[in-house]
Amino acid sequence: MLCSNTSSKTALLTGITGQDGYYLTRLLLQRGYNVHGIVRRSSAMNRHRIDHLREQMQAAANRLHLHYGDLTDGIGLMEKILEVQPDEIYNLGAQSHVRVSFDTPHYTEQVNSAGALSVLESARVLQKQKPVRVYQASTSEMFGGIPGSSPQSELTPFHPQSPYGCAKVAAFQHTVNYREAHDLFVCNGILFNHESPYRGETFVTRKITLAAARIKEGLQDELVLGNVDAKRDWGFAGDYVEAMWLMLQQEQPDDFVIATGETHSVQEFLEIAFNSFGLDWREYTQQNPKHFRPAEVEILCGDATKAREKLGWEPKTSFEELVRIMLEHDHELAKREKWGEELAERP
Ligand code: NAP
Ligand code: GDD
Repeated sequence: MLCSNTSSKTALLTGITGQDGYYLTRLLLQRGYNVHGIVRRSSAMNRHRIDHLREQMQAAANRLHLHYGDLTDGIGLMEKILEVQPDEIYNLGAQSHVRVSFDTPHYTEQVNSAGALSVLESARVLQKQKPVRVYQASTSEMFGGIPGSSPQSELTPFHPQSPYGCAKVAAFQHTVNYREAHDLFVCNGILFNHESPYRGETFVTRKITLAAARIKEGLQDELVLGNVDAKRDWGFAGDYVEAMWLMLQQEQPDDFVIATGETHSVQEFLEIAFNSFGLDWREYTQQNPKHFRPAEVEILCGDATKAREKLGWEPKTSFEELVRIMLEHDHELAKREKWGEELAERP
């Protein structure tokens, strides 16, 4: 049951510049929210998704505000949260790449676990002044791999297989603890993989759709991957941010698995993507050990029954449709890149 009046609410997002930040900000602006986003400083601008959103939603752009901050800077984060006084906080910020977490385990822990703790502490202090609700971006990577434990639900034990997964389990537990110890309205969304044309380019789905489109247009010769036997439950990010919002509109805080209930291998994704351009993926794809992980989560497949029953949430976009949306987008990008090159070559 929904229990909110969304007009003129204020939300604060960490991770606003990422894939989910784009879709969630779009949803919140459409629902009349004032949206504040934490953006970290980088030497190159990292706001292309948000800039695109501002162009798409010009009429709402005055309700979108960005602030510099970093999840590793807990004091700065608390100061910002107390200043903005949000009704809802969505902690989406993370070092979100599983393979990279093996190269940067301490950093991943600081951002994904200690960073989440800083958000919770800020909410605990803010709650002395006003009610606040917090969404924590938990993940199916927390389940990791116990043979025979698929499909995974809220009752499946965690067995993370990466520094990323371990840090996210710690953040999950802190979130539950703040709910129980401090009576905070905090929810864990245990989201399975979700993708879109705004997906980061080093995640496997986007890497494949970009490569297939560029190979089709003669801009690239080969695609180098790791383990193509792994299976994932892939949904559409636009559908999944709706579930995040729904969790914070309930009467009671709780934790929910969000998934499609279907699983597909990386190889199936490759086949569909390359076939749609009349190409055989085997002719263009190489495997390189550098893209394999020291420990791999072989299969993820989620059981989102609780979300369906309690939130009324279900995915709207099929796997085939998701792949098609991503391919169409990346084919357009490749064609523009090719035209750009041809124009530049003209005398
Ligand atoms: P993403 O595209 O990689 O975005 C991550 C965001 O976190 C970016 O805005 C990034 O900023 C920000 N960030 C990274 N380090 C930070 C730091 N030290 N301080 C503050 N912000 C920082 O990830 P996503 O796919 O949108 O995922 C959103 C969240 O959901 C993440 O927590 C992820 O772990 C979790 N999740 C994702 C999935 C999925 O399949 N997409 C599934 C389950 C859970 P920059 O733009 O500056 O890099
Ligand atoms: N990234 C990547 N690059 N993955 C590859 C490659 C490659 O070249 N080749 C094969 N893979 C395999 C990985 O080994 C993994 O089994 C699968 O493709 C998916 O990898 P990613 O797209 O990197 O996603 P992920 O499942 O590791 O993590 C994503 O989903 C999690 C939810 O389960 C991220 O978004 C995490 O932040 C998120 O929590």
